[in-house]
Amino acid sequence: MKVFYSYKKRVLQHDIALVIFLSNAGVLKFINKYINRFNHHININKYILNTYLHKGGGFVEIIAVTNQKGGVAKTTTSINLGAALAEKSKDVLLIDLDPQANMTLGLGFGKKLKNTYRVMMGEIEFINAIFPTDFGDDSWGRYNLMPSHIDLANIELELSSKLGRETVFKDSYEKSKDKIYNYDYILIDTTPSLGLLTVNAMSLADSLIIPLEPNIFALDGIEQLINVYKLIRNKFNENLRIKGALLAKIDARTNIADHFHEKLREVFGDKLFQTTISQNVKLNESQLEGEPVNLYSPKAKGALQYQRLAEELIENE
Ligand SMILES: Nc1ncnc2c1ncn2[C@@H]1O[C@H](COP(=O)(O)OP(=O)(O)O)[C@@H](O)[C@H]1O
Ligand SMILES: [Mg+2]
Repeated sequence: MKVFYSYKKRVLQHDIALVIFLSNAGVLKFINKYINRFNHHININKYILNTYLHKGGGFVEIIAVTNQKGGVAKTTTSINLGAALAEKSKDVLLIDLDPQANMTLGLGFGKKLKNTYRVMMGEIEFINAIFPTDFGDDSWGRYNLMPSHIDLANIELELSSKLGRETVFKDSYEKSKDKIYNYDYILIDTTPSLGLLTVNAMSLADSLIIPLEPNIFALDGIEQLINVYKLIRNKFNENLRIKGALLAKIDARTNIADHFHEKLREVFGDKLFQTTISQNVKLNESQLEGEPVNLYSPKAKGALQYQRLAEELIENE
């Protein structure tokens, strides 16, 4: 009997040690990262590890990159801020919520059957539409993608009579939440409108990054954007906040950007990133090549500025 109890005690001590070891998020992240290198689909191991890792919510920050204007660098910022964070060993999931699928194509992905459209339609689980990308090396964190599809253009019509349509994406995330890898950042690239897709992105997000181009029309429409933001806070997501406005696509030949920074400071106060992004042809080229700029041209001004933006984000964690 005595022998039995001492055996039980030993097992118990062993179990406690194992639990302490496993509850160390750093250790788990390390193990999980290496499992993931061998095979992105070892779901059982991932599931077990993530159960410990996630701890009912984790510390993920979900950021929607949004502005109802087209061409202001939402997609460029999502891809390259994401890559700069991953380069700093942060685990990043990019979500393409734009039917134009520029981010999906800009990362060299073709049409995927599992995509944000099917997640929003409730046809597949959130977790099943996440794909690994081949970017980065062992020093990088994860850099995964949930791709988009042109079908997403119909979503407004298809969900028009559905109750709770403003939060279908969030609801799907919540259902998968305990199984999803514990990312540091989830960046949602949004479509140039303030319709249902952007509303869904804002309902899920913790915060917004608002890229703006320095021209005389830059602040047109900001009022509507802020109104939608306030509405979402009131109705669906009281914790949503503005992370920062980002002055992007600055023409270095003029000093209009300084003037603009001042103007934006009046509107956004301290919710304005210190870092600004200049026009840089490498950002354009890298997107065409289907690669983040920090891999395509690591020394380019665009790469360094997105790196600086990632640092600013991390400093404010
Ligand atoms: N800083 C920049 N320098 C040069 N070209 C840029 C820059 N940022 C974005 N672009 C280019 O401008 C176009 C629009 O940018 P994009 O990120 O697709 O905007 P949005 O997603 O807001 O519509 C793209 O062709 C992109 O490559
Ligand atoms: Mg875009």
